[in-house]
Amino acid sequence: MNDTNTSILANRIAVIGCGHVGASVAYALLLGGFAREIVLLDADQNRAAGEAMDLQHAVPLARPVRVWAGDYREAARSHIAVIAAGVGSHPGETRLDLLGRNSVVITDCVRRLMAEGFAGLILMTTNPVDILAQVAQEVSGLPTGRVVGSGTVLDTARLRAMLGEALGMEARSIHAYIIGEHGDSEIAAWSAAHVAGVPLADFCARSACPVDFDDLLRRVRRAAPDIIERKGYTSYAIASCVVRICEAVLRDEHTVLPVSTMTRGEHGIEGVYLSLPCVVGREGVERVIELPLNQPEREGLHASAAVLSRTLKGLRAAP
Ligand SMILES: NC(=O)c1ccc[n+]([C@@H]2O[C@H](COP(=O)([O-])OP(=O)(O)OC[C@H]3O[C@@H](n4cnc5c(N)ncnc54)[C@H](O)[C@@H]3O)[C@@H](O)[C@H]2O)c1
Repeated sequence: MNDTNTSILANRIAVIGCGHVGASVAYALLLGGFAREIVLLDADQNRAAGEAMDLQHAVPLARPVRVWAGDYREAARSHIAVIAAGVGSHPGETRLDLLGRNSVVITDCVRRLMAEGFAGLILMTTNPVDILAQVAQEVSGLPTGRVVGSGTVLDTARLRAMLGEALGMEARSIHAYIIGEHGDSEIAAWSAAHVAGVPLADFCARSACPVDFDDLLRRVRRAAPDIIERKGYTSYAIASCVVRICEAVLRDEHTVLPVSTMTRGEHGIEGVYLSLPCVVGREGVERVIELPLNQPEREGLHASAAVLSRTLKGLRAAP
């Protein structure tokens, strides 16, 4: 295949970092069937090559897709570059603890991508994802809408899964969002949550389903450490979130997803990446939706934004 010109290939996705998350993303993309090409990169080239070979052998059982271990020149022609490079949390570490190590990795990956003329969309998954999406946007100089963090798409899926279980309902019928930092300061926008237009609290009361909202939020925040304590990392749910975001972009869906994006005065917050419901299409984030929050939720969101601003300031001040 001729890969010498520099135009974007609409159905090519690059996955940079092929550890637990990146490899699962590539596998989920392969099964999803909407990407025509998946190029894998990792600092450990053998690892990328091994994952590519293993995935290639799954192709005859899925839909036609070209998967290979490639370089930044090839990655730069992709429509979406998923970044999953760096280190994950060890038991007892928070996502913010990873910042020092992962900001160096991310800066390197983004610089190399841009040096090859990348003009697509960056989808950050490496933690702390909000800060690193912001770092990637600054390093790349791409429009903010085209540098997106997976944000609280995962936490929101976890919340809906738990609510679905508690209410005995299919999770997709429950509309509820986790917003703010993808991390310990995230909040649940309970006052905007509903089932078929019925506010969630009323729905629970009417169906005599006692739901402990505080406990649910605690379980959502604890989900990653609880899984890491048991299997050492998380992979399948984040991979499904990444694939869902890629699908919304490649199919220009204008779907609402709580990805991490640059705030521009929403809820009185400015200049920091965090998650709010966003309309996502081919150009990335097209619009940010302000949820009707009550006062405690608004304060919680501001506190979450303040955690991110402080962390970002600390990173900028670091030698
Ligand atoms: N956003 C989310 O919701 C979410 C969920 C799960 C994990 N994560 C994060 O994803 C990241 C990856 O997690 P993992 O479990 O896959 O880790 P991992 O250690 O299994 O894989 C990381 C990979 O990155 C590669 N890498 C390191 N430096 C690189 C560089 N400069 N260029 C290219 N590749 C490089 C490593 O060789 C390794 O293969 C972590 O930061 C983790 O916290 C995010």
